[in-house]
Amino acid sequence: MNHFLDIHKTSPEDLRAMIEMAKAMKRARGGRPKGMRDDETPLTGRMIALIFEKPSTRTRVSFDVGARQMGGETMVLSGKEMQLGHGESIADTARVLSRFVDLIMLRTFEEATLLEMAEHATVPVINGLTDSSHPCQIMADIMTYEEHRGSIAGRRFVWAGDGNNVCASWLHAAGQFGFDLTFTGPEAFDPDPRAVEFARSRGSRIEIERDPLKAAEGADAIVTDTWVSMHDPESARERRNKLLRPYQVNAAVMARAKPDALFMHCLPAHRNEEATDEVMDGPHSVIFDESENRLHAQKAILRWCLGV
Ligand code: CP
Ligand code: NVA
Repeated sequence: MNHFLDIHKTSPEDLRAMIEMAKAMKRARGGRPKGMRDDETPLTGRMIALIFEKPSTRTRVSFDVGARQMGGETMVLSGKEMQLGHGESIADTARVLSRFVDLIMLRTFEEATLLEMAEHATVPVINGLTDSSHPCQIMADIMTYEEHRGSIAGRRFVWAGDGNNVCASWLHAAGQFGFDLTFTGPEAFDPDPRAVEFARSRGSRIEIERDPLKAAEGADAIVTDTWVSMHDPESARERRNKLLRPYQVNAAVMARAKPDALFMHCLPAHRNEEATDEVMDGPHSVIFDESENRLHAQKAILRWCLGV
């Protein structure tokens, strides 16, 4: 039984196997994400619980569709409507759910909640996003980069804006997949130093550059995300927008990157804040491929967790 809790907690060999499985499963469907069951249905007879303590569109739909394509059954649970949201402990929730379902995917706030669920569940637990990381997203993003530009190893990515949960997972991935990353953003929103340290310990070059135009010079890809995440208080929006505005990804920033650089964003976006429409909908952008690949990547993660 494998939990998929974070990219830095999974071996590079297993991560690579999942990416290759995702690519192969996408090919086996003739590249078509929608409808019809896969020819192989390794999740037949398996029940998957998808628990959301925060909103979701992509994660929810891609896990649900992906599990069904592989012959599995799903139930989508809202944390607020469970006893979990009314005082029942995470440990007891984990023990009870383990009697009914074969796998738990959890989107929650604190990382500690996810870890507690994994500790007490006797079925695999997948991290569907916490305040600290978003590993499923980055698996889809690596697949997307490689579909467009080949191996990610040795490339240089730029993360622009808030050094948030998605940025932390990119840093974990830099260490595991062997690429470099330059962070450009205000000091107040620097990335998690543990994620920076992890990537450096694996030999990745991680730089902090306060000038976004300098950071973008010669980059293979420019990545950003919303300036106000689901865990950020609404009261912080104005301050965050003000401090982060100089780090907007716009045509001037993209022009500094390599001519074939990709623009990436996990979505949902606040259009014309962290990135302009011109970039989001422009020739460098692969944002909707990233969304689609959530489906294929998630299917590979589910199979790896269940060993099927
Ligand atoms: N990127 C992502 O996880 O999107 P959702 O919040 O819609 O699931
Ligand atoms: N950083 C964002 C990602 C959403 C998929 C958030 O946590 O809200």
